[in-house]
Amino acid sequence: MSRTDCSGNSPICRGCICEFNRLEEARFWARIMQEHALFIKLGLPCDEPDFKEEAQDLIEEFKELRERLDRASRLCGDLLDDLIDAVKDIIKFKAKLLRLLLECKAEPGSNYPLLLDHIRREAMHFLELLKSPVPEDPLTMLLQQEVFWLRQMKEHIEFVIHLLDPSERELIEDAEDFLKIFSRLLETARDLESMDETRPRHFNTVVRFTQTVINNTIALRDFKAAAFELAKLCELLSIVSTPLLLDHIRREADKFLDELEVLLPEVRRCNSTLKCD
Ligand SMILES: [Fe+2]
Ligand SMILES: [Fe+2]
Repeated sequence: MSRTDCSGNSPICRGCICEFNRLEEARFWARIMQEHALFIKLGLPCDEPDFKEEAQDLIEEFKELRERLDRASRLCGDLLDDLIDAVKDIIKFKAKLLRLLLECKAEPGSNYPLLLDHIRREAMHFLELLKSPVPEDPLTMLLQQEVFWLRQMKEHIEFVIHLLDPSERELIEDAEDFLKIFSRLLETARDLESMDETRPRHFNTVVRFTQTVINNTIALRDFKAAAFELAKLCELLSIVSTPLLLDHIRREADKFLDELEVLLPEVRRCNSTLKCD
């Protein structure tokens, strides 16, 4: 493909579809939602049986939805409506618990307020995908995803640091190095997203930045995967309620990488003067 064909004005880019498979998205996020409900339940203090029951109901609701999603070939009709209702329910539940913690009206157990906000944000992101699946232009979409996911990745590192036993000094130090890197990447992503409001015809820096994001996210994904293996083998000292939490945050890193893999070539083709793939 020639350089001119890569211009953002070419018909191929005007009709550019950074199409995500909605059913696959829903399967991914429904599992995440089910696990969030489990993490909340495990983190609740033992004198909160009503909240534990509410969390259990959500676990079962998403379990059933996941079975329906596995059997479905399209995401529409009752399945979509039920999924939207369930996501709204879990958003309300997370927000209610967080609000009670902020008002000092409930014991936190081991649910950090930031963790509740983090998983509330993920649920809202999922709801947004279910309600408005049509993507905007690839550059805007890439920057939106980077700002969203880099914040989540940064917070994963913060949770890991606070859940590891203080004697796990080397792992904590590795995590602190990641925290510095991801805090900086998030700040840059926010800057670039703001600059993109001027609608540049090409923005090559985003391509270079995204490559850096990919390389660092691969390293972070590997760190999370290694921590999960250690926890499974009972070789890790921490107050993580279940090793599944480490696998959960590893899967979210892989999801971010999958999205970057789809979006980066589109941005390179439509929003940069760089060589096409
Ligand atoms: Fe999550
Ligand atoms: Fe997360």
